[in-house]
Amino acid sequence: MRHGFARRFVAGESLEQTIPIAAALCAAGRRVILNQLGENVASAGEARGARDSYIRALHALDAAALDANISIKPTQLGLDQDRELCISLTGEIAATAKSLGRGIEIDMEGSAYTEETIAIYESVQRRHGNAGMAMQSYLRRSLQDLKRLAPVRPKIRLVKGAYRESPAIAFQKKKDVDANFRLLLDALLQLSASGGALAAIGTHDPVLIAHAQERIRQLGLTGERYEFQMIYGIRRDLQEQLVSAGHPLRIYLPFGTAWVPYFMRRLSERPANLWFVLRSLVAER
Ligand code: FDA
Repeated sequence: MRHGFARRFVAGESLEQTIPIAAALCAAGRRVILNQLGENVASAGEARGARDSYIRALHALDAAALDANISIKPTQLGLDQDRELCISLTGEIAATAKSLGRGIEIDMEGSAYTEETIAIYESVQRRHGNAGMAMQSYLRRSLQDLKRLAPVRPKIRLVKGAYRESPAIAFQKKKDVDANFRLLLDALLQLSASGGALAAIGTHDPVLIAHAQERIRQLGLTGERYEFQMIYGIRRDLQEQLVSAGHPLRIYLPFGTAWVPYFMRRLSERPANLWFVLRSLVAER
């Protein structure tokens, strides 16, 4: 974090550094999803520590009266150690969020965790009703998962997917991932229009964003039924365009010390980012 390049994607190492950035985003008309960086913790104690941090973050967002929620990762809350522990810690975070009139979201990790994550999501959403979950359009199974989740009136954050997956379970070509994104998006927006879901459109792809805008217009969806979501530091031009056009936009804002895996995923999405990193390193000398 001493180097400027990590700061483009990560708000800061501490919650205290992050709240003013979240406040500035909200003042500029955005909503925020706060994510404490971390995944695949090594012990139940670390998982409980992550729960404590999220509860602290929820209280801080509330004290600052920000239009913000939080997003967790199941392996950060002990999924590798003990499934029941993960359900219970996620439930505690959802209950705190609910008591503050807020929601939580669940990131989707690699495919080894998809089934467990959906089961945890179903359980937490049934119990608390204020949770959302990311769904990846590169996975062949996702349309079935969307149908399966309809009874819990889900909030779905539709994304393309950021992990390396095998052709047996995941589309590999951009055109196929995008085609499935369209299919899922159309189904999700339909569900949202009938009051059966909340749609979060998580992409920076201008073609898919234009497609979503057109469908939203055709369905006459209002800002309570959908939002766009984008990652802090990516395509700020598109972020501004969406807000100026009157669309709700939520910014995924990560913070914390465990930023390396997150940062590497953002780098691998766009090789040009490597030049950005090299330029920042050279500029410091
Ligand atoms: P695509 O990769 O086609 O990019 C479209 C354009 O966006 C590019 O041409 C470029 O201009 C810009 N862009 C994209 N990535 C960039 C980058 N890293 N740096 C600079 N510019 C970039 N994934 C996952 O597996 N589980 C999850 O829970 C989440 N959660 C999540 C939340 C939110 C709010 C978003 C927006 C995304 C995620 N993702 C995710 C990541 C997602 O799966 C995907 O990897 C990235 O969003 C990149 O895909 P795009 O849809 O942006 O399209």
